[in-house]
Amino acid sequence: MSHKLPQTGDMNPNDFRQYGHQIVDWIADYLTHPEQYPVLSRSQPGEIKSQLPATPPAQPETMDRILADFENILLPGVTHWNHPSFFAYFGITGSMPGILGEMLMAALNVNAMLWKTSPAATELEDVALDWLRQMLGLPAGLDGVIMDTASISSMIAIAAAREALDLDVRRQGLAGRADLPRLRLYVSDQTHSSVEKGAITLGLGQENVVKIPSNAEFQMQVDALETAVQSDIAAGYRPFFVCATVGTTSTTSIDPVSEIAAIAQKHNLWLHVDGAYGGMAAIVPEMRGVLDGAEEADSIVVNPHKWLFTPIDLSVFYTRHPGVVKRAFSLVPDYLRTAEGDAAAVKNLMDYGVQLGRRFRALKLWMVIRTYGQDGLAARLREHIRLGQQFANWVDAASNFERLAPTPFSTVCFRACPDSVPETALNELNEQLMTAVNETGEIYLSHTNLSGKFTLRLAIGNIRTAERHVAHAWALLQETLTGLQQP
Ligand SMILES: Cc1ncc(COP(=O)(O)O)c(C=O)c1O
Repeated sequence: MSHKLPQTGDMNPNDFRQYGHQIVDWIADYLTHPEQYPVLSRSQPGEIKSQLPATPPAQPETMDRILADFENILLPGVTHWNHPSFFAYFGITGSMPGILGEMLMAALNVNAMLWKTSPAATELEDVALDWLRQMLGLPAGLDGVIMDTASISSMIAIAAAREALDLDVRRQGLAGRADLPRLRLYVSDQTHSSVEKGAITLGLGQENVVKIPSNAEFQMQVDALETAVQSDIAAGYRPFFVCATVGTTSTTSIDPVSEIAAIAQKHNLWLHVDGAYGGMAAIVPEMRGVLDGAEEADSIVVNPHKWLFTPIDLSVFYTRHPGVVKRAFSLVPDYLRTAEGDAAAVKNLMDYGVQLGRRFRALKLWMVIRTYGQDGLAARLREHIRLGQQFANWVDAASNFERLAPTPFSTVCFRACPDSVPETALNELNEQLMTAVNETGEIYLSHTNLSGKFTLRLAIGNIRTAERHVAHAWALLQETLTGLQQP
């Protein structure tokens, strides 16, 4: 490699080619054997920082040295979400076609804020999201926009719902207005915290996010929703938004979307369906029913970066009311005006959210969908569901473990419950069990709290997870439990 780096200008293209090949080789090896690393980083707080210089390099450094530090200093601080035994939270995958898409995105480095600033980015986004809509069995007429995360997609939904009320909030705001009732939103006690966060961000007030209790299967109780809406109306509040979830975060329960849709329609609420995780299962023909009722929704979020093998970040926000979203967010200063935009001949992505700049994210989703095909994607999701059901069956058949929630997808909620341990000691035992299996570096599980019970979660969503990984997790849990119980 040449050490005579120019004073100005980019890296030498030959060096780029050489290191580019080296990095692709490294990625291919990494993705072939992610099991060579402990899945959960063993790094202690501050350990990575302490190995890095506190001041920037004044002089150029060689890529060899930079890559050596990546390997020696940074990698030990990485938790390997690509490890096939990553079962925590929701398993995800940066799949190979998705990574190739990311490389091309980075190389083009377009800003897709306006159609004109890269027509292909806007138009491919429309095409890829319409393909995805069809794959999910959702009706035509839903317009899709790529957001970074489901949290932002849901916040956009709340903002659009508020705009649809025609209360002139965009111009006058909410504060200090005696003419406005309190706006009320409805979620369940299982809804992802991002919906509440969106309401906080939009100045609606955390108190106005009404948490409807869920039933024994962790689904929103629709009669309680109806009662809450009615009593809020009687109290002079203005109900305007309800979120139904397909695949809640803790247990992956599915809210009764059709029944919630009927209540939404009756009271003129904006129905938002959060299918960030579970919605994707509708790609599997026999699972299509999970999105029943979503065709009634005003907006829907699904996350290809969760369970569609697309590298983070890529969340899809669908709505039947793109004009309302645009009304809520479009603000076009002179320097961003274009002839096509003025003529409303194109979609300018900057009009559909807070941010101006946007990456060419559609490219990676398009490459993932084309590489695997709809049937290939369905086969992979179906296999994850099969593995999840199998693990659930093992738990059900074991006398020293129990399942704590139904398993509609590929995520299993369970705990150890040996006869010899009293109920009052089970939370501590299960926390110890989780910590112990995670410390092995062989698997990574996370937890939740279900009705006061410390609950282990095993979530399958990585493209490389095979039956042997799930079987090993089960064996390790049993072995570790036995070890913990030894005096
Ligand atoms: C149901 C649900 N909605 C929303 C989110 C938030 O997702 P994101 O990280 O894309 O904001 C999650 C995260 O796990 C989730 O499970």
